[in-house]
Amino acid sequence: MDPKLPTRPLLSHLFFVSILLLTIFHPRADSQGEYCRHPARPVVITPHNRSDSEPQQVHISLAGRDHIRVSWITEDKKVQSVVEYGTAPGKYDAVATGKHTSYQYFFYRSGKIHHVRLGPLKPETTYYYRCGGHGSEFSFKTPPSTFPIEFAVVGDLGQTEWTKSTLEHVAATDYDVFLLPGDLSYADSQQPLWDSFGRLVEPYADGRPWMTTEGNHEEESFPIIYPHGFTAYNSRWVMPYEESGSPSNLYYSFDVAGAHVVMLASYAEFEPGSPQYKWLEADLARVDRRITPWLVALLHAPWYNTNLAHQGEGESMRVAMEELLFKARVDVVFAGHVHAYERFTRIFDDEGNACGPVYVTIGDGGNREGLALSFKSPSSPLSLFREPSFGHGRLRIFNGTHAHWTWHRNDDSQSTMADEVWLGSLVSSRNCMRDSGDDGLQVQPSASSKDEL
Ligand SMILES: [Fe+2]
Repeated sequence: MDPKLPTRPLLSHLFFVSILLLTIFHPRADSQGEYCRHPARPVVITPHNRSDSEPQQVHISLAGRDHIRVSWITEDKKVQSVVEYGTAPGKYDAVATGKHTSYQYFFYRSGKIHHVRLGPLKPETTYYYRCGGHGSEFSFKTPPSTFPIEFAVVGDLGQTEWTKSTLEHVAATDYDVFLLPGDLSYADSQQPLWDSFGRLVEPYADGRPWMTTEGNHEEESFPIIYPHGFTAYNSRWVMPYEESGSPSNLYYSFDVAGAHVVMLASYAEFEPGSPQYKWLEADLARVDRRITPWLVALLHAPWYNTNLAHQGEGESMRVAMEELLFKARVDVVFAGHVHAYERFTRIFDDEGNACGPVYVTIGDGGNREGLALSFKSPSSPLSLFREPSFGHGRLRIFNGTHAHWTWHRNDDSQSTMADEVWLGSLVSSRNCMRDSGDDGLQVQPSASSKDEL
């Protein structure tokens, strides 16, 4: 057990015991296909084994044009929120000072949470950095400024042995930016699990930007005391909401290479007239498809879903916001929440539509709750591929017109590509751009093939 974890009340111990029992007695899924589909695996507690002044839980995120935010935690409250950095190991020719915060949740008090914004930085460049003047050197690579760019996409990550497998698979091949459509730590109010999660993901999140949006497991609200929730998430995982004109850390957007990525909130108001709706409307209106020909959206509760789990939970948000995304010609929407993989065709308003987004559910990162094994039968003709397995996805955008989407199943702990499709950008469809009222683009339509959407 982690020696740095504070003494927990009896309730917390019961929580860990219940996780253990749930894990042991989880019914084993039948073998399907050519491999054995495993049940959930135990939660992994990642111990704190550094000094109080050394940084822990280091992660980075994109923070506006040519900037990166470095976030970390120290137990020592005297450590300054400064990051020294440079392009050669041990040679720091720049220093940035940032902010810090902390929070209390019932009897738990967090460490000092530091957030420091670095930049302007050069694209596709490795920077070496040290946090707070103490401890080891870290390094990250900035994303490219032009195509190609590759996103790793993983939802509902958790912190189990399956999570570790998924992260190892993601890291085995280079990528530029990590996208997480909600449900990170599965702390579920047990705050030390947020710290354990931060330590588990540090070896990955300290080197590539991790861009997250919130899931239901981030909420952690409690009547009267914490009515608004998201205290831990908003304190620890600060995203570029200020940089993108959003009033809330729960929804924001960013540009990277030739992609505009919109991170939406399934758990904030989304009706027309709400702050999120108004922000999204304005954000999409600002997108210049000549600079960012690809438009990608992420949210937690899927709008389209043929799994029996979480049926209809994204429906009210879909009704409120789908037309905004459709009219903006969003290319692809990634969701989590359902612990399985599912890829749909292009859809608008429950029907196939060549100008609608491709919908992908990818809530299969490996959390302790296990897989959502049952799908509706018969399937919908809109659903093109579905499988309840742990895994991760990769979106490699080659240029302004073509991207390749792949889904990699955790196949008995080995990574196996199980689904793939070529995507043509909607900006390259003259018909779709004419219908959207944007005639400022004259990109030649791409040749389509049987396996291209
Ligand atoms: Fe969820």
